[in-house]
Amino acid sequence: MAKVTTLHLQEMKRKKEKISMVTAYDYSQAVLVERAGIEAILVGDSLSMTMLGNPGTVNLTTDEMIHHIRPVVKGAPTPLVVGDMVFGSYNESIPQAVASANRLMKEGGCEAVKLEGGRPDVVKAIVEAGIPVQGHLGLTPQTASMLGGFKVQGKGFDAAKRILDEAKAIEDAGAFSIVVECVPETLGQAISEALAIPVIGIGAGRFCDGQVLVFHDMLGLFSQFLPKFVKQYAQIGDEIVGALGRFKNEVRDGGFPEEKHTFGGLSAEEIKKLG
Ligand code: KIV
Repeated sequence: MAKVTTLHLQEMKRKKEKISMVTAYDYSQAVLVERAGIEAILVGDSLSMTMLGNPGTVNLTTDEMIHHIRPVVKGAPTPLVVGDMVFGSYNESIPQAVASANRLMKEGGCEAVKLEGGRPDVVKAIVEAGIPVQGHLGLTPQTASMLGGFKVQGKGFDAAKRILDEAKAIEDAGAFSIVVECVPETLGQAISEALAIPVIGIGAGRFCDGQVLVFHDMLGLFSQFLPKFVKQYAQIGDEIVGALGRFKNEVRDGGFPEEKHTFGGLSAEEIKKLG
């Protein structure tokens, strides 16, 4: 597969080809995503929970985000790599937002940034600085407390209209794509049909231009909480626990290592002479 760019994703939408995106947060995960031929990687701030064990995304720093973007870029040369702007790195001022986006690109090496919320002025400024931006609307986890918690957004007429209008404004501001999270399927479809840019859904129904899932959720690596919209394609966590348990038992019982895992050297006689 040729290197995926923002234009490539837009071309996929025009051709009605569905886009797949997944999060990844380190080199080994990125290599697996690359091998699977997935078009786009989000180094999402969900890493705050999945990789760093924090209760939420709010205390993740830009330095930590950059630390995770770098190995992903090395491990996945083909997919488009999008770095997530962390809470507090773009809500003070437009210069602050542009400076934070510059850091993800220059120090992390990602090819685009994603930011949550309906701020077309911020999106426009970052795009004008030469940085491709992916918007993120609907349920925006960084500000979930403002939205009444982790719940479906845009259920009523006014709320749905506000999200649709925000999506149009983010597109007009120059975003190359938008993630829409946890909205009714009808709204996910309406946004996808209203915009020319790709709409990547997560809990936004079947009719978006593409889908994104969190690596740990879809592979069964994070069991603390599983949203309804996640499909688990594997139970890797259980596989790993089983393998670790077998290792522990074999070490205890002497089943590991076997002779084939050992190295030859001096004979027992010669070893004795070593003193
Ligand atoms: O951080 C993340 O993983 C995300 C996805 C839920 C889209 O923003």
